[in-house]
Amino acid sequence: MDNPIGIFDSGIGGLSILEKLKELLPNENMVYLADNLNCPYGSKSKNEILSLSIKNCKKLSEFNCKVIIVACNTATTNSIKRLRETIQVPIIGVEPGLKPAIMQTETKNIGVLATEKTLESKLFNNTLNENTLNNVKIHEQIGFKLVKMLEGGNNSKKDFNKILKLYLIPMINKNIDYLVLGCTHYHYLIDVIKNIIPENIRIVDTISPINQHIYNTLKSKNILNKGGKKRNIEIFFNGKRLANKYLDKEYNLNYLNF
Ligand code: DGL
Repeated sequence: MDNPIGIFDSGIGGLSILEKLKELLPNENMVYLADNLNCPYGSKSKNEILSLSIKNCKKLSEFNCKVIIVACNTATTNSIKRLRETIQVPIIGVEPGLKPAIMQTETKNIGVLATEKTLESKLFNNTLNENTLNNVKIHEQIGFKLVKMLEGGNNSKKDFNKILKLYLIPMINKNIDYLVLGCTHYHYLIDVIKNIIPENIRIVDTISPINQHIYNTLKSKNILNKGGKKRNIEIFFNGKRLANKYLDKEYNLNYLNF
């Protein structure tokens, strides 16, 4: 089936998922919406996040997408249930990897870096309550400013280092051994984060598990593209420009009003 896979995020964050997905699924056509006009989602109300997510899914449905990937933890944790009730296409979301961290921690302390609305969401807190063992402590931190800085594309590693130290050092002092990255944008900060945290702290990023899940879903629904034609990856943004540091040459990048 050569209908594209639809993907959306508030900006470049979901490209970290697409980057791996395009290698895992080399035949698949893809349409990616970067809703950077409305970025960041993380400080918006639940209703705003829901209506932006519905708008994005409707636009992706116009491209006849066979599946929609919500490549944004904030949109997933605040809207996935309603999206599945509203949109007629299978929807896959991404959530912070709490479960593996809780299952594997030895120090019984876990750090979670995510957006304000992800940390506040019902889905995040339900997952937390369902998986937390009595003796495991979760140390949450909102990644204030990080998404905006990444979207702007003008900040140096030094700038990120300065701000991330403020977020991570208190967690390190709590003796965490797992750091859950609960925002797809933060994938681009892994190098800087690794320079701050000691080696014994493992980073839980959900890029690989979500991609495996997408592959398994397409396979089980028998909707993988088996055709041998050269595939097409379209990236659309609706803001002034898209920070191009993270864009591969393979992508067709265009402005779209959505
Ligand atoms: N990439 C989104 C996420 O995973 C970014 C959130 C935002 O726009 O604030 O949560």
